Formats: sequence, structure tokens, C-alpha cells
Amino acid sequence: MKEKLFYWNELKFDVSNQNVYPPKPASLLLADAAIKIIKPEEKVLDMCTGCGIVAIAIAKFVRNAKVFASDINPNAVSVAKHNAKLNKVKVEVVLSDLYNKFKDNKLDVIAVHPPAVPYAPQKDWNMPQGMKIATNGGCDGSKLVVVQ
Ligand SMILES: C[S@@+](CC[C@H](N)C(=O)[O-])C[C@H]1O[C@@H](n2cnc3c(N)ncnc32)[C@H](O)[C@@H]1O
Repeated sequence: MKEKLFYWNELKFDVSNQNVYPPKPASLLLADAAIKIIKPEEKVLDMCTGCGIVAIAIAKFVRNAKVFASDINPNAVSVAKHNAKLNKVKVEVVLSDLYNKFKDNKLDVIAVHPPAVPYAPQKDWNMPQGMKIATNGGCDGSKLVVVQ
């Protein structure tokens, strides 16, 4: 597979894996807001991390932040781990449904860019499975955003 790199804000990300969501404008907005809002030494979870862009930006630019990242897609977990190494930052990346594996951790901040595209039932746009998981927000896009 040919390596594809994405560069942003002195950081670089391997985005070659078609089963992992590549950074989009909303990813950069969230990463930018996170590094402005999160304070030094805070304990942060980047839930739904994808290629790790938000977690890695926090680890790089917020002094002594303790950064965790979670994703339900094993491809995303391994790509985020690889990208943390590429950028020489420490992020603990965990395979987890939302924050299930973090219920015993006290966190100061949870950052999240969830799947939020409205999908009609059985809709399949011929995307790789990882991209469906990354985008499918249920019938009105709010599946992971609104607590029923
Ligand atoms: C819109 S992408 C955002 C990726 C990255 N945070 C960014 O901003 O570029 C959503 C991510 O959520 C992950 N995801 C979907 N459902 C999840 C769940 N229940 N628990 C954890 N991660 C989930 C997907 O695998 C995907 O990586």
C-alpha cells in the first residue's frame, strides 16, 4: 500500500489506511479548539480518535497533558498508535466503545468528533467498513450525540 501523509500544524499523520477516517475540516477545528481550551497537566480522553489527530495535537501542544484516546475500530487504534510514534508524543490508545474502558478514570476533558452523518436504514455507499463506522450517525445523524 502506498503511504499517504497528511500534514497539519507541524504534525504529520499516516492516512494510508482506507478503513480509518482521515482528518477533515471538523477534525482540525476540534484539534485547534482543544489545544486552546485544555490546560497544562489536565487528563484528557479523545473519544472516537480515528487517526489520532486530536489526541496527538493535545499531547504535542498542551504541556504535560495526560492523553488517552479510544476508538471502536481496531484499524483506527493501530493507526493512532503509529501516528503518535511518528510525532514522538505519548498517547495511550485503547480499543473501546466510547468511554467504556475509562469508567474508573477521572478525566478533566473528553473531546469527541463522533459519527454524525444521517444514514437511511440499510444505506450502504460502498464505503470501506471503517468509514461506515466513522460516519454512520443513524437515521438523523444523532445516534452517538443524543442520549435517548
Ligand atoms: C468522524 S470520525 C472522527 C475521527 C477523528 N476524531 C477526527 O476528528 O478526524 C469518528 C470516529 O469514531 C469512531 N467510532 C464510531 N463509533 C464509536 C464508538 N461507539 N466508540 C468509539 N469510537 C467510535 C470511528 O471508528 C471513527 O474513527
